[in-house]
Amino acid sequence: MANSETDEERQLTAMRNRARAELENLDTAESLEDWRTRYLGRERGELTAVLKGLGKLPGEQRKIVGQAANAVKMELEALLEARRQAVQARERAAALERERVDVTLPGVATPQGHVHPLSQVMRDIARTMKAMGFQLYDGPEVETDYYNFESLNLPPDHPARDMQDTFWIAPGQILLRTQTSPNQVRIMESMRPPVRAFVMGKVYRNEAIDASHEAVFHQIEGLAIDEGLTMADLRGAIAAFVEAMFGPGLRTRLRPDYFPFTEPSAEFDVDCMTCKGKGCRVCKYSGWLEMGGSGMVDPRVLRGVGYDPSVYRGFAFGLGIERIAMLRWDIDDIRLLMGNDLRFLRQFT
Ligand code: DAH
Repeated sequence: MANSETDEERQLTAMRNRARAELENLDTAESLEDWRTRYLGRERGELTAVLKGLGKLPGEQRKIVGQAANAVKMELEALLEARRQAVQARERAAALERERVDVTLPGVATPQGHVHPLSQVMRDIARTMKAMGFQLYDGPEVETDYYNFESLNLPPDHPARDMQDTFWIAPGQILLRTQTSPNQVRIMESMRPPVRAFVMGKVYRNEAIDASHEAVFHQIEGLAIDEGLTMADLRGAIAAFVEAMFGPGLRTRLRPDYFPFTEPSAEFDVDCMTCKGKGCRVCKYSGWLEMGGSGMVDPRVLRGVGYDPSVYRGFAFGLGIERIAMLRWDIDDIRLLMGNDLRFLRQFT
């Protein structure tokens, strides 16, 4: 039989063996595709060429070689498919290995923010004032001369205007509010008595900045109007506010002062919480800390909003929120509070 093998058959067998040997070493999809083109490809495949050349062979031989070539074709196709699947399985396994997730590793911690110290104080103030029956209001930071000064009994030529250096937007008309007091007038205009209201927010002053002065800071303003309110009510409200903010047992005192929109007017002081009244650096050895301004709302201000001063009276008070924060946490430089330095802020989690 061996002798009857033709050249074509011997070539076919050699090609088959070569193709099989090559295939065994291939391990990528690309090299498999290249192998397929070289042996089984429609255009240039070696085996395809054999099949195409069958027509030139004599009848009997054409049949034998044709059958052998078809058998080789089927064999190579089956081998290719098996090899493909093996390569794919290996690649999938490698990908899984690459993307392996160790579910026992600790997670990545997401940084957590926290409430700014000034906001913490404002939340405490709001809770305290609401518990005392006051309602929270809001007002514009860009204010008119009328609300910031004139309606508060500060006409244009009033010397007390110099108490607060103003950032003007339109000189004599529009400004950045220098105090939260203009909201007293805005609130009274918007309702009839009784009034129990408070406002918190930024105020602006064109001042030289240092450890105790900022050009932008915050105030809280309280206002109560009713029939028969007296200075005793003012005193009681301030005492309750201070105790709620700084702790029970702290005394407050009113000291005569002057504000154009209150009559009488008083500064209010609180026992120095650092030395408990003995005298120290924080209270400048007086035993008292100045907290803010207050007084009975001036009849002219009441008349300006259409309230009858012979029926209604009230009190108002205002103080700096930074001051409260600085006393609470022993902060010695007001600039730290609005400086946005995370090393500072992270201490108030
Ligand atoms: N607005 C004043 C200031 O910024 C503080 C103040 C004084 C507020 C007396 C008041 C008050 O409500 O009655 O200096």
